[in-house]
Amino acid sequence: MSKPNVVITRRIPEAGLARVQEVCQVRQWDSDDPIPRETLLEWVRGIDGLYCLLTERIDEELLDAAGSNLRVVSTLSVGYDHIDVAACRRRNIAVGNTPGVLTETTADLAVALLLATARRIPEAIDAIRRGEWTTWKPMWMAGQDVHGSTVGIVGLGRIGRAVARRLRGFNCRILYHDVRPRPEVADELGATYVDMDTLLAECDFITLHPRLNASTYHLFDAEKFRKMKKTAILINTSRGPVVDQEALYQALVNGEILAAGLDVTEPEPLPVDHPLLQLPNCVVLPHIASASVATRTKMALIAAENLIAGVQGKPLPYPVED
Ligand code: DGY
Repeated sequence: MSKPNVVITRRIPEAGLARVQEVCQVRQWDSDDPIPRETLLEWVRGIDGLYCLLTERIDEELLDAAGSNLRVVSTLSVGYDHIDVAACRRRNIAVGNTPGVLTETTADLAVALLLATARRIPEAIDAIRRGEWTTWKPMWMAGQDVHGSTVGIVGLGRIGRAVARRLRGFNCRILYHDVRPRPEVADELGATYVDMDTLLAECDFITLHPRLNASTYHLFDAEKFRKMKKTAILINTSRGPVVDQEALYQALVNGEILAAGLDVTEPEPLPVDHPLLQLPNCVVLPHIASASVATRTKMALIAAENLIAGVQGKPLPYPVED
């Protein structure tokens, strides 16, 4: 019997590729750069399964191009805002993602970014390189304490909770806001549900962990920044469009908030001449929150298992949740 035909849209960890190749006939875009849209539209014609990344837009146009053989779209990411899940459902195409395995790695990075931004670590490293470390100065590179601070978590999902657990070790007071209170998971973390205005007014740090959808697009806008403390720091490791970046830039320049740490931006990559990259109080990372060797390998394997189950017409081990 011939193997199902699948497309893999990028170079992926070897273990994931090997697993897919055991079962499927693979056509892979063997590059670290994204497959051009036109090529992807051509390659997907008639395939049974698609293994994609968060950089590919999986929409009606692509599904039309693929045709009726397509049974599964498997993304090497937990986020799936790049996939039109409703359109897939209408065509009985299963959609899988990689939840769980990246939670702890992503939370590690969120806390690292929070610490780096609060304590001005990238700025201090740059200053040394520029020869500005002339002597010990009492207030030079003085930042904000994380220990004992009040931290607001927006979105108490898996990653938000993992961040809360870590910050309890810093003796932080944890507030959270979500679409609804979540006492079943919040209580053991000592996290208190508050409305958004309270969170904005009381927190020294706000860390964003919602899914990107219509209701969270530009959730953090000029009005929110105006309601935050002038000494507050915003951390975003969720999706770039959750923050209105123009409003963030103004808030940082005008001193409405103290600083921001972003692992995600809009667009990605952020152009090197983007105004946010000129600001000393904005730390920008290139979307690396889940980027540990172990975690990316696990993600590649889970995406492989989702793909294989899908082409075999079996339930996916990790179907997307909505
Ligand atoms: C995801 O998986 O959605 C992250 O943004 C990258 O790991």
